[in-house]
Amino acid sequence: MSTVNGFARTEFACRDLISVIARERLGVSEIGEMISLIAENDAISFGAGEPSADMFPAESVRDAMNLAFMEPDVWGYHHDDYGLMELREWIASRMKRDGMAPDWVGPENILLTNGGGEAVSLTTEALVDPGSLVLVESPAYTESLLTFRKQGGVRVAVPSDGDGIIPSELARIASRRAARFLYTVPNFQNPSGRTTPIERRAEILDILRENGMALVEDDPYHYLSYDGPPPDSYLKLAGEDMRVIHVNSFSKIIAPGLRVGWAVIPPPLVKIFSSLRISAGLGRPLAIQRGVLTYLRGVDFKAMTAGLCREYRCRRDAMLSMIEKYLTPLGIRTNRPAGGFFIWGEAPGAADAEKFARYAVRKEKIGIIPGSAFYLDGDRGGDGSFRLSYSKVRIDAMEEGMSRLARAWSSYSKLVKG
Ligand SMILES: Cc1ncc(COP(=O)(O)O)c(C=O)c1O
Repeated sequence: MSTVNGFARTEFACRDLISVIARERLGVSEIGEMISLIAENDAISFGAGEPSADMFPAESVRDAMNLAFMEPDVWGYHHDDYGLMELREWIASRMKRDGMAPDWVGPENILLTNGGGEAVSLTTEALVDPGSLVLVESPAYTESLLTFRKQGGVRVAVPSDGDGIIPSELARIASRRAARFLYTVPNFQNPSGRTTPIERRAEILDILRENGMALVEDDPYHYLSYDGPPPDSYLKLAGEDMRVIHVNSFSKIIAPGLRVGWAVIPPPLVKIFSSLRISAGLGRPLAIQRGVLTYLRGVDFKAMTAGLCREYRCRRDAMLSMIEKYLTPLGIRTNRPAGGFFIWGEAPGAADAEKFARYAVRKEKIGIIPGSAFYLDGDRGGDGSFRLSYSKVRIDAMEEGMSRLARAWSSYSKLVKG
């Protein structure tokens, strides 16, 4: 028997104690696996869906954090369960100014969260029972799919086209069985880059009204809009009909490491969200929230987001022109996103995108995320779709990456055919 500090060590059978949730519902993130594979192979990555490190306003945020830590109130437990009031006020007035929020939205309806991810998670805990139906656009943001499953929700895919969720498909699915909510990323969607036009948003809201369903609008790319402002948010369009929970974040426009996001919550649900959050670990870091507020007060927000848009627009345009040069001649089709970080592609001949992505990273050292990562199990898993991200790729590495991707596709398709 092994010993620790002279005492006999007995094996404690922790594994036998693992909960059903932890054992059966967590699953693995296919994106996480691909990102690890890309790093292991030291590949050029079109995989990472995050901001570019050179775009972080590091110096200004450091200065703002220094100032924040001088405030005595940031050091103790803080007793405002919703998060720093002044930051919530800033968010409410910004959202109203930018056509994102109706009149009823004020700081009292906003809960600061550990990124948008926690806001999706709280929404799920508040509204989903094991066995409840949750409708998700398809393809969908993978981490939210995992969150819904963790809570025991039964996820049902609603097909999309180039303009997002297809209303007739939603109407057909929603009329069959009652679902708790529809989850969507309406602007520059992760993964597809698609944006839902305003007429379609109105149609979708009508269908949800007819079927007594809520809508969860996840909008972290809102301010990364390269070809004019995005359509009005679902939250704004729904107006006094408070069926929309809006989720947002500073991750893409300041830095994801700060972990500051928020949820706009209809009044009857606010207390429930806050209680759920307290049960999962008291508040969220006030010092960081104050630092973010200090940073925001010190910048011209419009100019700041315009600067981000200028740089990311360049990267998008560069990737699109390289796609035209390298991928279009091979029959690979892609879309043209109006903002965000992602381009959606489809390879000809219904290839197995997951196999291809693994082949490409090993053979040519180029990383992409296969479309299968964004579909529910068994739902168009191998349709040859994939996600390309331009946010983190330097333009000089982009051309080399695209030529590698083209080479990988050419040799892979020969291998599959032959
Ligand atoms: C659609 C979407 N929702 C939520 C998140 C989570 O972001 P965070 O928790 O950092 O705010 C992301 C991040 O990639 C995302 O793309």
